[in-house]
Amino acid sequence: MINIKSEREIELLRQAGHIVYETHQYLKPFLKEGITTKEIDDLAAEFIKKCGATPSCKGYQGYPANICISINDEVVHGIAGRRKLKNGDIVTLDICACYKGYHGDSAWSYPVGNVSSDAKYILEHTEKALYEGLKVVKAGCRVGDISHAIEEYANKYHLGVIKELTGHGVGNHLHEEPNVPNYGKAGTGPILKEGMVIAIEPMLTIGSPDIYMEDDDWTIKTDDGSLSGHFEHTVVVRNDGCEILTGE
Ligand code: MF3
Ligand code: CO
Repeated sequence: MINIKSEREIELLRQAGHIVYETHQYLKPFLKEGITTKEIDDLAAEFIKKCGATPSCKGYQGYPANICISINDEVVHGIAGRRKLKNGDIVTLDICACYKGYHGDSAWSYPVGNVSSDAKYILEHTEKALYEGLKVVKAGCRVGDISHAIEEYANKYHLGVIKELTGHGVGNHLHEEPNVPNYGKAGTGPILKEGMVIAIEPMLTIGSPDIYMEDDDWTIKTDDGSLSGHFEHTVVVRNDGCEILTGE
């Protein structure tokens, strides 16, 4: 069942989303060569708590860190530690916060210092793929319309679409129905209604879309070591489009 949120709930989701957005803005200037991922994770937790929220990732199915920090060929769920950011890396911060029982979820990939043309390419086009998906959202559209828009954009720019990981509903739980895949057929899947809240999150690769799980049982990487980008917003479905909850 995909539940429809009341305006009171949407206001809380808006506040949670805003905290996630502000956390991204707060962390961005720290993403420089030499900082450890643990230092970024600590700063994130401190900021989220100061906003009156809690980091939703911490303890989620046993996840050990506060936010997910994934570098280069790491696609998702990288765990903070002693690793330092290097000039030329791309780093994805996937930040989830829970405010008064409601979650916000947004991932963004950032360049560290001067990055390669491949890195610039994956960043630019994964972000644009997210906006292609967002463009088709409105009451009456189907999940497959979003999936198809993202896949079509990725194909046009010869990027790999990761099939095993999807967007999702958001509410009192971080992951709710429906799944929102980044590939699929237009006109298929659940129909979206005004007041549904979903996270759309293309995860694209420069090379093959095949992935594997690291020995830590969390970090997911590309098989071929190619760069991966990840951009995600949580949005409310509206009659005339969508409202981004994790944006400015
Ligand atoms: N934004 C991530 C997702 O949608 C949240 C991961 S929480 C974690 O998958 F605990 F799995 F890391
Ligand atoms: Co998500």
